[in-house]
Amino acid sequence: MKQILIDRYGPPEEVARCAEVPDVGAPAAGEVVFDVLAFPINPADVSFCRGTYRLRPPLPATPGAECVGRVATVGAGVSHVKTGDLVINLQRENWTQKRRVKADVVVPVPPRMDVRQAAMLRINPPTALLLLSDFVELKPGDWVIQNVANSAVGRLVIGLARARGVKTLNVVRREALFAELKGLGADACVVDGDDLAERVKAQTAGAPIRLGLDAVSGRATARLSACVGEGGVVCNYGSMSGEDPVMSRGALTSGGLTLVGFTLMRALAPRSPEQVRAIYADLGNQILTGALPAAPVEKVYAIEEIKTALTHAQRGERGGKILVAPNGAI
Ligand SMILES: NC(=O)c1ccc[n+]([C@@H]2O[C@H](COP(=O)([O-])OP(=O)(O)OC[C@H]3O[C@@H](n4cnc5c(N)ncnc54)[C@H](OP(=O)(O)O)[C@@H]3O)[C@@H](O)[C@H]2O)c1
Repeated sequence: MKQILIDRYGPPEEVARCAEVPDVGAPAAGEVVFDVLAFPINPADVSFCRGTYRLRPPLPATPGAECVGRVATVGAGVSHVKTGDLVINLQRENWTQKRRVKADVVVPVPPRMDVRQAAMLRINPPTALLLLSDFVELKPGDWVIQNVANSAVGRLVIGLARARGVKTLNVVRREALFAELKGLGADACVVDGDDLAERVKAQTAGAPIRLGLDAVSGRATARLSACVGEGGVVCNYGSMSGEDPVMSRGALTSGGLTLVGFTLMRALAPRSPEQVRAIYADLGNQILTGALPAAPVEKVYAIEEIKTALTHAQRGERGGKILVAPNGAI
């Protein structure tokens, strides 16, 4: 079977290769074997290949924080999934054609869910959900500001906030995105820049912003923080700039702001397996019914095309995610 391996850390399109590896074999008791139907290339996977991600396993290593699969066989004692079920995997190393894993890391998703959307269910939807719920108790009418608003996470934040009556101020890198984001329910959009706080104040008519969501880091964190109201929270959950977040001392002291960090792994850790499955079942259904916006997909590649796919995934101004379908077209 085919699997992506990196033999060293470096530019993803140079270090990743499609290798022939032994089959995973039959499931033992309490295990599940599934065929990987699709996986996305997320910013964290790009960092993983570069060696700048928080996890840096010994090499060779297989990237891939998420995927969707179809259960091929289950071992003795497995009851929550069966052959043919559509599943996501809570473990990594998913850039491959087939996985054999412990049954408790496999989560069933709604059977009628679109395979492409299911491939992107594990990380970004719960991230958006928990960013909006774990730090500030938001009430209808409250404002949230976020950068990378056109990202997959950003679009989900817009959808989830709108469903709760929470208003979103959306910071992007180009004005051409405004109409599309407003179509998803964005209340206001601005282009990032030095005078961000003044332009944001004009958009909210001075109403305080209670939560800032930052996935750019560097000076972008300071610009976003300057828009958040006194006593508010800035949550850093990514670094598209590759830098660490910068925040002014005045924002922390006079402004009383709190800077917090988020990773999905830490956010899910205190939740029980039943709670985690319930979160995915609910988010999967919301995407299936259209209550939450589907994530746009720009292109789907074959697993042998991994280098081209990785180059494409690192382009700015993409119109959607890059997916790979390791077992044929989806
Ligand atoms: N902490 C966690 O657990 C967690 C979980 C999920 C995601 N994340 C983070 O969330 C962020 C978004 O992920 P995603 O999968 O939703 O992304 P995505 O759909 O792949 O979109 C990438 C976004 O990043 C923007 N971008 C790229 N380079 C940038 C730069 N140098 N400065 C500012 N913006 C830049 C792009 O804007 P353009 O269209 O203008 O190029 C686009 O909006 C990433 O940082 C990711 O690591 C974190």
